[in-house]
Amino acid sequence: MPRKRSLQPRLAAKPSMENKSIGVGLMGIGVIGGQVATVLTERANMLSENACCPVVLRKIKVIESDLDRPQARAMPASLLTTDEDEFFNTPGLDIIVEVIGGEHPAFEYQKRALKAGKHVVTANKEVIAKHGAELLELAAQNGVSIRYEASVGGGIPLVAPFQRDLIANKINGIYAIINGTTNFILSTMAREGTEFATALSQAQKLGYAEANPRNDLEGIDASYKIAILATLAFRSRVRPEQVFHEGISRLSRRDFQYARELGFAIKLLAIAKQTGSEIEVRVHPVFLPADSFLAKVDGVYNAVLVDGDLTGQVTFTGKGAGALPTSSAVAADVVECARFLASGRTSPVWQAGEIKTIKPMSQVVTRYYIRMGIADQPGVLAQIAYALGANNIGIASVIQKETASDQTAEIVIMTYPAREEAMQAAFADFKKLPVVKEVHNFVRVEV
Ligand code: HSE
Repeated sequence: MPRKRSLQPRLAAKPSMENKSIGVGLMGIGVIGGQVATVLTERANMLSENACCPVVLRKIKVIESDLDRPQARAMPASLLTTDEDEFFNTPGLDIIVEVIGGEHPAFEYQKRALKAGKHVVTANKEVIAKHGAELLELAAQNGVSIRYEASVGGGIPLVAPFQRDLIANKINGIYAIINGTTNFILSTMAREGTEFATALSQAQKLGYAEANPRNDLEGIDASYKIAILATLAFRSRVRPEQVFHEGISRLSRRDFQYARELGFAIKLLAIAKQTGSEIEVRVHPVFLPADSFLAKVDGVYNAVLVDGDLTGQVTFTGKGAGALPTSSAVAADVVECARFLASGRTSPVWQAGEIKTIKPMSQVVTRYYIRMGIADQPGVLAQIAYALGANNIGIASVIQKETASDQTAEIVIMTYPAREEAMQAAFADFKKLPVVKEVHNFVRVEV
């Protein structure tokens, strides 16, 4: 009789003393670092079983002012050092986890680790977006890997799916809500009818927005993240400075009122899509059909919709920030590095393919919502329609409400698809029209 084969997948051998332990060095013991340290120590057995070797947190690089933090105090003092050289020279460090954030000195620390032949795991979107190509090259030269799942979308799996599960697809587009702070503010404005400043201070009180929230509000944070995703999706290096970004601070409660009336929601969307032989990569507020999936993603939640030619639309959603979700992604990357180390294999190197041209924003085509204040007198609409028509922009609909007469009326125009440069030319023409008091706002429409 042949021996019955187990239906259980062949799980890795339990880590044993025979397997060399893999040492982890952690850089940063802030809110994220503290949680990463907790997961690496409290779940050491589970992580080690999955890594097929013992995974041990061996050293933590902190700064002087962190030593009094509860999360630093919770760690054995022998694990902590403020000395960079002592940290890097700790025997048996195989994987360096960088969660200090910011561009410098995080970038230099990552380079030092890779040059020393150590694998790197990072949650740092700024460093990966700006210097990912150089770091990947350095990792390849030194036979190690750099992993960055936590850099986009916190605990939502995004980097690994692009590197693995979606690899057979040609990606048509990515449409993403990848900044929780702005999504919270926009959801609050939509729900409570508040102005931007009130919603921002609410977000700050709840700890969702930083004291200096510029990077979030101006779409810079989202531009780092979409640069990372677009680079993976299109296998073509996209630098953050190539990403057009526009923030949310111009939006007012009036825009939300009109959006609702017209059947739209307003979201800050990061978009990367293939149009012909070029790719578009941009971050700005958009009008989205109110019944669409992304329109219903509210609060601090993130959501990423990927349109693959084989998969069709795939959506990823969850908490895009915070210590617990981020620690989940970091720990998974540590296990992945440890698996390679334990197996003796080298990590596959991700490589960009042919560099694709990024379409200049001036050539992007969308529909537009325009809200403007105009003189309330005969013939005004004709002048505005003429200015739009002269720039080859068609009007899809117009709303004008009767106003208590201060001689100014507010109108809202929805256009047909128009090129951005044509729209900007029309705005310049509006400035020359005495009947146009002010263009209060315009928002691009994605349908
Ligand atoms: N500030 C980011 C956000 C979180 O609001 O989504 C970290 O990426």
